[in-house]
Amino acid sequence: MSKVDASGWSFETLAVRAGQERSQFGEHSEALYLTSSFVFENAAQAAARFSGEEPGNVYARFTNPTVTTMQERLAALEGAEACVATATGMAAILSTVMALMKSGEHIVASRSIFGATQQLFGNILPRFGVDTSFVDTGTVEGFRAALRPTTRLVFIETPSNPLTEVFDIAALAAVAHSAGALLVVDNCFCTPALQRPLELGADLVIHSATKYLDGQGRVLGGAVCGARALTEEVFKFLRTAGPTLSPFNAWVILKGLETLSVRMKAQSASALQLAQWLEAQPQVARVYYPGLASHPQHALAMRQQSGLGGALLSFDLRGASPEAARANASHVIDSTRVLSIATNLGDTKSIVTHPATTSHGRLSEDQRRAAGIGQGLVRLAVGLEHPLDVIDDLKRGLSTLAS
Ligand SMILES: Cc1ncc(COP(=O)(O)O)c(C=O)c1O
Repeated sequence: MSKVDASGWSFETLAVRAGQERSQFGEHSEALYLTSSFVFENAAQAAARFSGEEPGNVYARFTNPTVTTMQERLAALEGAEACVATATGMAAILSTVMALMKSGEHIVASRSIFGATQQLFGNILPRFGVDTSFVDTGTVEGFRAALRPTTRLVFIETPSNPLTEVFDIAALAAVAHSAGALLVVDNCFCTPALQRPLELGADLVIHSATKYLDGQGRVLGGAVCGARALTEEVFKFLRTAGPTLSPFNAWVILKGLETLSVRMKAQSASALQLAQWLEAQPQVARVYYPGLASHPQHALAMRQQSGLGGALLSFDLRGASPEAARANASHVIDSTRVLSIATNLGDTKSIVTHPATTSHGRLSEDQRRAAGIGQGLVRLAVGLEHPLDVIDDLKRGLSTLAS
C-alpha cells in the first residue's frame, strides 16, 4: 500500500488527497472496504493485533480502512492531530461526553444549540450525574458566570441555528481554559472550509457529517477532531460501545469532502445574495445572516469565518399578531416550488423550514419567545440552485402578502 504524504498542502489539495492509501490495485478513487472483519496471517498476529502490539485492523467496530481515510482527511482539514468518526453527529456528541466526563462533573453550554443536544444535556445526562448550565446570552461574561469548579466542557455552536448568533471562539477558549475546562465547538454550520476552531484555541471540534461534509443529503455521520490524547479517549468509548461510522457512509462523506470548499463558497455567495434581497423586501421585518453588515456580530463573523457568512439564514415575516405571522410564514413556504420543505441542512438542494412549529415546536410559547423564535420566522438552508430561481420561488409567496 502506498501512502500519500500530505505535508505542506493547501486546504483544497488536502480535501481531495489527504489520507488516501492505495491498495495493490492502484485504484484512483478511494477504495470502499465493505468488510466487518479482517483476516490475520496466523494466531500470533491475531493476538498481537488484539493487544495493540501490532498496528492494523481487527474488526470494523474498531477500525476500517475507508473510515480511517475519511478520519485522516477531516483531521487534515480541521488542522487536528486526530479524528474519530461516528455514526451520526449526535453519536459524536454523546461519545465525547461519555469518554471525557464522569458523574458529578458539569457542562456549560450555549442555549442556542441543536435541539437534540439540548435534550441530551438537559434531560438525559442529569440521570447519570452530569449537569448542564445553559447560557442564554452570547456574551463571554455569561459563560464565565456559569462556570463551576466541576466544569469539564464548555460547548458551543457558531453560528447558531436558526438565528445565526456568532460566538467568539478565541475568547470562549480562554474562559474555558481559565477554569481547567475544554472548549468543544460544533462546527457543523461553517465546516473547516470557513472556520477552524482548533486554530482559535478550541480543544475539540464536533461534526454532524450528515450536513455539509457529505453535502448532498445522502448519509448520516459524525466526527470528533482534536488532540490525539482526547480523541483516543473517544475512540476507546466508541470501540467498546459501538456508535461507529459505517464504511459506506465514510466513503460517501470522503467524496463529499473533495468538493467542500467549492460548495461552501458557492452556497455562501448565494446565501449573501438572498439575504441582501430579503432585507430589501417590505414584508420582511428582519434578516439573520452573519454576512450582512446589519448582523450584530458581522465583524466577528468575518474574522472568524474566512470572510464568508455560511449558507444558513433566517428571516422574520411581518404579521399583526403571532397567528398572522404564522399564516404568512406558511403561505411563503407553501408557495415555493423549488425549495424543499424538509428537516435537514447542508444539502445542495435548498431547504425551507418553519422553526416555531418544527425544530422548536416542543418549546412553550414563552420559551420560544425567550429564544427569539417568532411565529413569522422562516429558515433557509441555501443550496446550489441558481440564487435567482430561489428568489423567484420566495417572491411567489411574498408578493401576495400585505406588507
Ligand atoms: C448543529 C448540529 N449538530 C449536531 C446535529 C446532529 O447531527 P445528526 O443528525 O447527524 O445526528 C445536528 C443535526 O441537525 C446539527 O444541526
